[in-house]
Amino acid sequence: MSGALCPGSFDPVTKGHVNIFERVAAQFDTVVVTVVVNPNKRGMFTIEERIALIEEATAHLPNVRVASWQGLLVDFARQESLTAIVKGLRGMVDYDYEEQMANLNRSMTGVETLFMPADPSLSFVSSSYVKEIATHGGDVSGWVSPNVLTALQERIASPATGG
Ligand code: PNS
Repeated sequence: MSGALCPGSFDPVTKGHVNIFERVAAQFDTVVVTVVVNPNKRGMFTIEERIALIEEATAHLPNVRVASWQGLLVDFARQESLTAIVKGLRGMVDYDYEEQMANLNRSMTGVETLFMPADPSLSFVSSSYVKEIATHGGDVSGWVSPNVLTALQERIASPATGG
C-alpha cells in the first residue's frame, strides 16, 4: 500500500489544492491531506473548519482522508507509514522555498518529497489572494468550491477569531 501526505495551511482550501489532491489520489493508494497547525499564525478559519471544508471538497475522492498535525511533518509521515510528502508547485518561487524543506525533511528521516506542477489554469490561485479578493467583494467563485465560497462569504460578513 502506497500512501502520500499532502500538507499545508489550507486557510481555506482552493481549487488549486483540490486539483493536486485529485492527481495525487490517482497515483497513490491512500492520501492524507494534513492541515498543519501553526500556533503562531492566526487564520481566517479554525483548524476544525478547514478540515470540514476539505472533507466536503474531496468527498468525491474515496481514498483521501483529512487530518491535522502539530509538530514536525516527518514525524506524522512516519507515524502514518506514508512514504512520500507531495506538494503542488506554482512556479520557481514555490520551488525555492519547498526545495529547502524537502531536503531538510529527507536529511532528518529519509522521507521523500515529490513535486507536482500546478495546473496552468490554477497556478495563480492562492489562499491568501482568495481571502484578500473576497474580503474586498471580488468574485472568487472560479477558484474555490461552492462550500468554501459560502464559508468565506459568511466569515467575511461576520468575522470570527479563527485558529
Ligand atoms: O500551506 P503552507 O503554509 O505553505 O504549508 C507549509 C507547511 C505547513 C507544509 C510547512 O510549514 C510544514 O511542513 N510545517 C510543519 C513543521 C515542520 O515539519 N517543519 C520543518 C520543515 S523542514
